[in-house]
Amino acid sequence: MTKLFIPLDSFAVACGADQIAEEFARLNADRGLSLQILRNGSRGMAWLEPMIEVETPDGRIAYGPIEPGEADALVDAGILSGAGHPKRIGRVEEHPFFRAQTRHTFKRCGVIDPLSLDDYKAHGGLKGLERAIGIGAEAVVAEVTQSGLRGRGGAGFPTGIKWKTVAEAEGARKYIVANADEGDSGTFADRMIMEGDPFCLIEGMAIAGVATGATKGYVYLRSEYPVAIDVMREAIARAHAAGVLGASVLGSSHVFDIEVRVGAGAYVCGEETSLLDSLEGKRGQVRFKPPLPAIQGLFGMPTVINNVISLASTPEILAAGADGYKELGVGRSRGTIPIQLGGNVRHGGLFEAPFGMTLGDIVNDVAGGTASGRPVRAVQVGGPLGAYFPVSLFDTPFDYEAFAAKDGLIGHAGIVVFDDTVDMMAQARFAFEFCAIESCGKCTPCRVGAVRGYETVKKIIDGERPAENLALVEDLCNTMKFGSLCALGGFTPYPVMSAIRHFPEDFHGEPMRVAAE
Ligand SMILES: Cc1cc2nc3c(=O)[nH]c(=O)nc-3n(C[C@H](O)[C@H](O)[C@H](O)COP(=O)(O)O)c2cc1C
Ligand code: SF4
Repeated sequence: MTKLFIPLDSFAVACGADQIAEEFARLNADRGLSLQILRNGSRGMAWLEPMIEVETPDGRIAYGPIEPGEADALVDAGILSGAGHPKRIGRVEEHPFFRAQTRHTFKRCGVIDPLSLDDYKAHGGLKGLERAIGIGAEAVVAEVTQSGLRGRGGAGFPTGIKWKTVAEAEGARKYIVANADEGDSGTFADRMIMEGDPFCLIEGMAIAGVATGATKGYVYLRSEYPVAIDVMREAIARAHAAGVLGASVLGSSHVFDIEVRVGAGAYVCGEETSLLDSLEGKRGQVRFKPPLPAIQGLFGMPTVINNVISLASTPEILAAGADGYKELGVGRSRGTIPIQLGGNVRHGGLFEAPFGMTLGDIVNDVAGGTASGRPVRAVQVGGPLGAYFPVSLFDTPFDYEAFAAKDGLIGHAGIVVFDDTVDMMAQARFAFEFCAIESCGKCTPCRVGAVRGYETVKKIIDGERPAENLALVEDLCNTMKFGSLCALGGFTPYPVMSAIRHFPEDFHGEPMRVAAE
């Protein structure tokens, strides 16, 4: 039997991986090739997808990007024994993009069969949960706190402190909610882990259950991720059947179950309190805080809401101990961060590394500059509410505090690159337009401000009293920043103001009224 890995990841499926798998299955039957076809996750080198791998005595040899219709010729060329071919990549671990990474949370992604619990265990899976059950709730919270892990959903709140609050809160029932709404532009880390290593998220949620006394978990998953929905549902059923979930987690006295709930599709439903409303069957609208969800969350009960990557990072922290994780990174940004490279880049995909690389190294060296070959002009980090950074800020280290000091944010670590053809005035208008469409409407600065902002930038584009209208936009941004109820309205000023501040030449050359940082 020769093992052939063909990703089921959406990157690969979007480029024909399902057809390619069917072609190899047909060849296998017709030619008696003795192939075992496995559908794995992605290794994260999106520009090489669909990237298939063949297990040979010299290790797993990769080929890509493969196109539908190529299977016959590839088999004839001898790829099933690792033969040379123009699309031969070789061992993935030796590829410079992969070798430069520190794979912590993504160490199994693309390596294992995502739905095989045996494969998961053979690659270190469940060790974290076993240890968590062994050391007990307080020690688990202490370990996660000690690791320095901060929420990967955007706000960077310390995960251990959130868990402690829920552990200490009174409630007839407690919940763990995995935020898998992943609405930020240019982000796909949550999707990749759910498609490529779903048991890792399940294990992380169960560890959070042990730490807090929660007995029920929900994965709130966006409807645009059909592959992830199917994989997560199947993995949960298998974990249940194997006793990883259920009335006695791994044979212990802990009870923990998980359900997948599919969101109807609204950016604001990624905001934790809107998400709770949506989970409760209501229209997703932001709640006032306090009370914090950790005290009164889902159905009024203490609730941990964590991003998928925050939860999926905990099994390895528990298994290997907090100190190894804490040693990585810089300042208060500890551990690794799965950086997602998108937009106009040569090498798009997922790159997991300790915090601290400079933005310039990430864009120029890791992502290889622009796909168009033109100079980079702007980089938006942190999704649609993130600031646009010019090349002059490329020395900024990838670190929560360093980005905040430059009026930017890391968010969910999505990086979208633009070349010198980008029109920053249009980008500023788009930021308001996005906010106007996605606003939940609960507070006036965002509901009304986004629409007025869009109209005012349009006037500047049309050359209508640019200096006065720019001043108006700046006033409006201040009102939205300080008067909005949540970060959708509160952070929309970041892309707008950064575009005006760093690229004034695109705004009829008008300088900002108080531009100095
Ligand atoms: C408009 C808006 C959208 C958000 N979307 C997401 C999202 O898609 N995924 C996510 O994990 N967090 C999102 N967040 C952040 C969540 O509110 C929350 O901080 C996060 O889920 C907490 O998990 P963490 O501590 O693990 O980061 C969003 C916040 C806002 C204001
Ligand atoms: S800022 Fe916007 S999205 Fe947030 S509560 Fe106000 S209206 Fe809703």
